[in-house]
Amino acid sequence: MPTGESSESKDGEPRHPAAVIIPMWVPFIQDGGLMVQSGTKQAFPLKALVLIAVIVGTTALAFAFTAGWLSPHRLTPEKLVAALQTPGGPPLGHRRNHAKGICFTGDFEANGRGTELSTAQVFVRGQYPVIGRFNIAGTDPHASYADAPLRGLGLRIATPDGQEWRSAMIDAPIFAAPTPHAFYRFLIASGSKDPNAMPEYVGAHPEILAFIDWVKGHPRTESWSEDRFNSLNTFVFSDASGAKHAVRWSFVPAAPAISLTPEELANRAPNFLEEDISHRVAAEPQRWDLVVTVANPGDPTADPTKAWPEGRRTVNVGTLTVRQIEPEANGPCRDINYDPTVLPTGITTSDDPFPAARSAAYAVSYDSRTAESAQYPRTTAGADQ
Ligand code: HEM
Repeated sequence: MPTGESSESKDGEPRHPAAVIIPMWVPFIQDGGLMVQSGTKQAFPLKALVLIAVIVGTTALAFAFTAGWLSPHRLTPEKLVAALQTPGGPPLGHRRNHAKGICFTGDFEANGRGTELSTAQVFVRGQYPVIGRFNIAGTDPHASYADAPLRGLGLRIATPDGQEWRSAMIDAPIFAAPTPHAFYRFLIASGSKDPNAMPEYVGAHPEILAFIDWVKGHPRTESWSEDRFNSLNTFVFSDASGAKHAVRWSFVPAAPAISLTPEELANRAPNFLEEDISHRVAAEPQRWDLVVTVANPGDPTADPTKAWPEGRRTVNVGTLTVRQIEPEANGPCRDINYDPTVLPTGITTSDDPFPAARSAAYAVSYDSRTAESAQYPRTTAGADQ
């Protein structure tokens, strides 16, 4: 009988589950264990109580370990998300990073060439529905698009086999830090009042300079439609023969990039990217090719600050078409967590530590923002879209 279910006594009366479990302690009682009166009917030996205390104590320790109380220096997803926030506090109801953005729907048309690399159905020739989100990095949902350090794209492609491929990419060609731990230390240093904090971080992680140079210096385009979005993290594609391929991918825009001068950028309206993409998509669908880059043996797969050298094999596997723009507040992307570890069969994570760390941090952000939905009204009238 499963533990916890009631049983019947000889006289047909249902018995409390404890009355069924208690006889298990009888051997201890007979064994001469010290008996302790419990209520009116049963007695517990001291050994049993010690055993219970050990079980409860071990469970409490396991919880404390999982919560990080025993290792205060351990990096947790909560710490990562907290480190992203500015002194004003988190953007209630919104994503804890890439807080500003806009939803879209469209499709991904696979040309079939991706089946050379992966068995995922998303690469089989055909058209698959997409719910996506254009966004910018940062924690302010009211930021001006002109001030965005970088731009992002969240995508969810669904296939008829019931699987999904979720991904969140940015327009930078490299990431800020080589490991999630280093990224955390970078966030702490950049938010620190200590004038030595950043120089010390840069001394230990000079690779951050290439990223900072890119953020400060790269020419901004006039539209998300002209931006290239990169996975940066490495994933593994498995083909029909079982062979594995370490890959990164990019969505490469069909529209040619037209750069804004710093003056032109500064003069754009705070919401210019949303206005631009809404007008473009209303006029005609906007397209990006999905280009998969395959690593050569020895290419760095665990460090997204290291771009792979030119000349790697690339396969253009299909086209993303954005057909409709929708406000985020009541749009279909609002409650999607673009967790990069949600992958179809045929794609897995690699030795790159970021996707797992991102997955845990995105879940913390998702749980917070969905619990705070009252702070971000869904109705178009009350929403800050
Ligand atoms: C440890 C490193 C990282 C942390 C802690 C982090 C944290 C976050 C968080 C908390 C969110 C909001 C998630 C949500 O509420 O749904 C987010 C969104 C996002 N992140 Fe990251 N991120 C990391 C690395 C990256 C990397 C490497 C990329 C790009 C290659 C990236 C691209 C994005 C994008 C595009 C979004 C917005 C997705 C959307 O529209 O929902 N992040 N990130």
